[in-house]
Amino acid sequence: MATFLTGGSGFLGSHLLRAMLAAGEEVIALVRAADPAEGRGRIERALARVGGAAEARSERLHVCLGDLSRFALGLDRRTTDRVVADCDQFLHCGATVRLRESIETARAVNLAGTKSVIELAQRRSRRGGVRRVDHVSTAFVAGNRTDLVGEDELDPRGGHKNAYERTKFEAEMAMRAAGRELPVTVHRPSLVVGDSQNGATSSFRTIYGPIRIYARGLWRTCPANPALPVDIVPVDFVRDAVMTIRRRPDTIGRAFHLAAGPRGSATIGSLAALLHETFPGRRPVRFVDPDRWARFVQPLLARLRVRRITAVVREGGLYLPYFARMPRFDVTHTRALGLEPPAVRTYIETILRYCIETDFGRRALNPAATTGRAGSTDSSPARAGTAAAPPSSTVKRPPGSGYESDNPEEAVPATARRPAR
Ligand SMILES: NC(=O)c1ccc[n+]([C@@H]2O[C@H](COP(=O)([O-])OP(=O)(O)OC[C@H]3O[C@@H](n4cnc5c(N)ncnc54)[C@H](OP(=O)(O)O)[C@@H]3O)[C@@H](O)[C@H]2O)c1
Repeated sequence: MATFLTGGSGFLGSHLLRAMLAAGEEVIALVRAADPAEGRGRIERALARVGGAAEARSERLHVCLGDLSRFALGLDRRTTDRVVADCDQFLHCGATVRLRESIETARAVNLAGTKSVIELAQRRSRRGGVRRVDHVSTAFVAGNRTDLVGEDELDPRGGHKNAYERTKFEAEMAMRAAGRELPVTVHRPSLVVGDSQNGATSSFRTIYGPIRIYARGLWRTCPANPALPVDIVPVDFVRDAVMTIRRRPDTIGRAFHLAAGPRGSATIGSLAALLHETFPGRRPVRFVDPDRWARFVQPLLARLRVRRITAVVREGGLYLPYFARMPRFDVTHTRALGLEPPAVRTYIETILRYCIETDFGRRALNPAATTGRAGSTDSSPARAGTAAAPPSSTVKRPPGSGYESDNPEEAVPATARRPAR
């Protein structure tokens, strides 16, 4: 029997795919592409980026063309029949994660795509039974909450910060409802960063955005309370946790925060101090009141027509709501499985070192220095290496893939790099 996987060409999905293949699973991976050769090539390159060149050659890897936003995933009839006949497990990791996505597009991919995966699993269930449906959600379905969020809760009091959070919440609601008849498990990572052992990442989103802005000397004013918790989690932990949870029948019908949790989180103040030490020549981060900033300063800056400021405000504006309020994520269920999320302070310097050594993904490292094994097969959150990512500019995405630049240099002219404000 096989597993149907979405999102295998992405950052987290490629780590999961490599681990699944290394564990001997047969996988049918859905990918967006113009033709099968391009689809296979995209998956193979994604695997190679995470040290999985060998797994990319596996006969147990099958690639199918599709699109989460299209009716019935855009699968042709033959592929649908094959998935229904052969797949008794579903791992839904694909999503648009762009923070500036429109609600219409985000809903088409994240909610409608999830419903299509559910329908496929239901068809399989009627035909021959489903062992499990694993849904990669996000801890940020909790939206604007600032209290401790339980793993069983799905209650975004105060709403959501953007269409991404909103539609991932809607998708999790749909998945939980489907859990009445399907064996559903929900995985909720917080902010996923590179590998805890070598810092390697192929994605410079989330916290990398503000870090890069500071490191480039573009900006140093941070509209946040320095005591604000920052919950980040390394991709090797998330990969191994998902793999462990998928192997345990007692995880069905439950949700798990794959997060640092209150004990392991950092504060934005401690990260700022570390950034100041790490990037020589930069002045310390200056903290200002986030509400006053959002109400008075941000609108003024947005009206300025200075290229550097416009670019930074546009980029930084995406993260502003995260500086204003952050939920805290309870990890009791996850820890009860023996999965101990690493504390941010134990690996954050490794993450920053990788940013410096690769110039935020612009420079490739010698893969031999960072290549490691795929996910562990035991229940401990193993320490596995990851191949160095190639420069982000060499990572090809299909036209119209909704790819949001991870590289503010595309928006900020090189000549505009000046000491941090
Ligand atoms: N990274 C984080 O910090 C984080 C935190 C919490 C939760 N998550 C969740 O983890 C999952 C993976 O995120 P990621 O960070 O790995 O993002 P990513 O690198 O952007 O990967 C997203 C994946 O979804 C695929 N996808 C997007 N739109 C699609 C569509 N219309 N049809 C088919 N496939 C589509 C992408 O395919 P293309 O390669 O064709 O674009 C890619 O394979 C998501 O569900 C996300 O919500 C991520």
